[in-house]
Amino acid sequence: MIANMRAESSDIKVISENISRLGWMDSSDLFAADLLDELFLEACDHDASRSLSMAAVGNNAVREISSIRGDSTLWLDDPRCGTASKNFLAALDVLRKQLNQSLMLGLESVEAHFAIYPAGMGYGRHRDRFRDDDARVLSMICYLNTDWPADAGGELRLYLTDGDHDIAPRIGTSVIFLSAEIEHEVLLASRTRYSIAVWFRRQEMQVR
Ligand code: OGA
Ligand code: MN
Repeated sequence: MIANMRAESSDIKVISENISRLGWMDSSDLFAADLLDELFLEACDHDASRSLSMAAVGNNAVREISSIRGDSTLWLDDPRCGTASKNFLAALDVLRKQLNQSLMLGLESVEAHFAIYPAGMGYGRHRDRFRDDDARVLSMICYLNTDWPADAGGELRLYLTDGDHDIAPRIGTSVIFLSAEIEHEVLLASRTRYSIAVWFRRQEMQVR
């Protein structure tokens, strides 16, 4: 086992098979529980110190369109991020290399941001690949909410060929899907919703 990442090679095989066959998968034990707890505390600290910025829609977009997208974000490589962020980025790079070996996707880098949706906010139906930047290959969302009642909303809704599939944003749950293929939406939540969004990219980062 690699520190902070629970994925054994058999898990990577399961992930790869699901991504190849269905284009998506969810997992409840990809990362160490301690690391996720620390990331949740870090997200709360960033929220309290107002370190996050309102998210924009599309690449290099300048407008804040809260009716489409209501989250605020902070990239994990920001100097204000702590040890948990650094450890998580290291675990993601291990995962990136393992995925490359099994899926041959040529993933060259990984980027990740904290995302916090205040109560009443969501993110309308969309795909993650920008028209002017096709570098995002795989999307992954890791949820950090320690207490998420069934009626709190905030599910990730995947629009799949055989119908919709909703996933509750509970800590421990991670979802991986093909950025260019899978349409998805964040349903409105009745409480603050904490997550980390990750993108595995097939070429070096361009201007953000
Ligand atoms: C995104 C996104 C889904 C989620 O950030 O692009 O779709 O469940 N997030 O937070
Ligand atoms: Mn998305």
